[in-house]
Amino acid sequence: QHPELDRLLQAYELTSKMYHFLLKNTEHGKPAMEYLRSRGFSDKIIDQFQIGYAPNRWDTIVQFLEKRSFDPVEMEKGGLISPRHEGDGYVDRFRDRIMFPIWNRNGKVIAFAGRILGEGQPKYLNSPETKLFNKSRTLYNLHHAKTSIRKLRQSVLFEGYGDVISAWEAGVQNGVAAMGTALTEHHATMLKGLCDEVIICYDGDRAGQAAALKNFPLLENAGLHVKVALVSDGMDPDDFIRQYGAERFQRQIIESAVSTVKFKLIYLKKNHILQEEEGRIAYSREALNVIAPLSSPTEREVYLREVSAEVKVDFETLKQECNLLRQSLQ
Ligand code: CTP
Ligand code: MN
Ligand code: MN
Ligand code: MN
Ligand code: MN
Repeated sequence: QHPELDRLLQAYELTSKMYHFLLKNTEHGKPAMEYLRSRGFSDKIIDQFQIGYAPNRWDTIVQFLEKRSFDPVEMEKGGLISPRHEGDGYVDRFRDRIMFPIWNRNGKVIAFAGRILGEGQPKYLNSPETKLFNKSRTLYNLHHAKTSIRKLRQSVLFEGYGDVISAWEAGVQNGVAAMGTALTEHHATMLKGLCDEVIICYDGDRAGQAAALKNFPLLENAGLHVKVALVSDGMDPDDFIRQYGAERFQRQIIESAVSTVKFKLIYLKKNHILQEEEGRIAYSREALNVIAPLSSPTEREVYLREVSAEVKVDFETLKQECNLLRQSLQ
C-alpha cells in the first residue's frame, strides 16, 4: 500500500532490536546496563519495554541500515539518521543514550526517546515528527495498556516514560504518558474512546502540579471524569515506587486519588499560612471561587464543610458568602 512507510517501519523495528541487543550483549552496552541496574530496572522490564542502547559512535545505525539496503534519504526523512554537518553522508541521530522505543497503538515502533546516562542536556532526545510519528497523537505505552484501560474503564496519565514503566511493574498496567510535550485534544479523545476516567499522576513538584491543573479542562471537555493522584513533594511516581514499593503506590497514590476540586483546594492552600488570620481569609476567598461555580448543592456543601474546618469559620457564614458569590456569577 505505502511501500515507503512499510520500509520505515521495518527500519525502526530492526534498529530497535539492534539497540536492545547492543545494550544486553556487548561491551559498549555495559555502562548503560549498569546505569539501568542502578535505577532498579529488571531484566524482565528491559525486555518488555525493549529498552536499548545507542553506542557512542557516529555510524552504527548508518552502516547497519546501509548493509540492509535501506535508502539513506528515506531514513533521514524518517528521523533515524542525520546528514553530516560538513561534507556528504550521514551520522547516527542518537549516540551514547539509553533508548526507549515509542510504539503506535498497534505495537509498531515509530520513534525513539533517548535518555542521557546520568546528568546532562538535553535529558531526553526524541525522534522528530515524521510520516509515522505525530507527537500530539501518540501516547507512550498505549499498545500495552489498552487492554487494561478498557477493562478498568480507567487510565492513569503519567509525566515520564520511567513512571509508566515502574508503574507497570508495580501492577498499574493502565498507564500512559504524553511525549514530553503538552497533552492535546487528540490524546484526550483517544483515551475517551477506551475509558471514562483518567487519573492524572504527575510529578510531585511545582511543574508537575501546574501541568496537572492545566489538563483538567482538556480531559473534562472530552467527556472524561478526572481524578488526581498526589505524589509526595519532590518525588515522581517512579521515585515513589522505588522507595516505598508497589503496594504503597497502589494504596497511597493511585487509590487515594482526589477529585479535581479537592486538588485545586490543596493547590491553593499551599500558598497560604493558615496559622495567620490573613492567610485563612485569603485562602477562604480563593477556595470560594472554586466552590461557588459548582452546580451540585451537595458538592458545594461537602467542600464548604472541609474549608470551614480548615479556616475555622462557621459553615453557615461560608455558605452565605458562597451564595452571594454564586449570585454575582449568574
Ligand atoms: N522530557 C523531554 N525532554 C526533556 C525533559 C523531559 O522530552 N529534556 C519529557 C520526557 O517524556 C520525560 C518527561 O518529560 O519522561 C518528564 O520529565 P522529567 O520528570 O524531568 O523526567 P523523568 O521522566 O522523571 O526522567 P528521569 O527519572 O530519568 O530523570
Ligand atoms: Mn529482549
Ligand atoms: Mn517532571
Ligand atoms: Mn519525573
Ligand atoms: Mn523520574
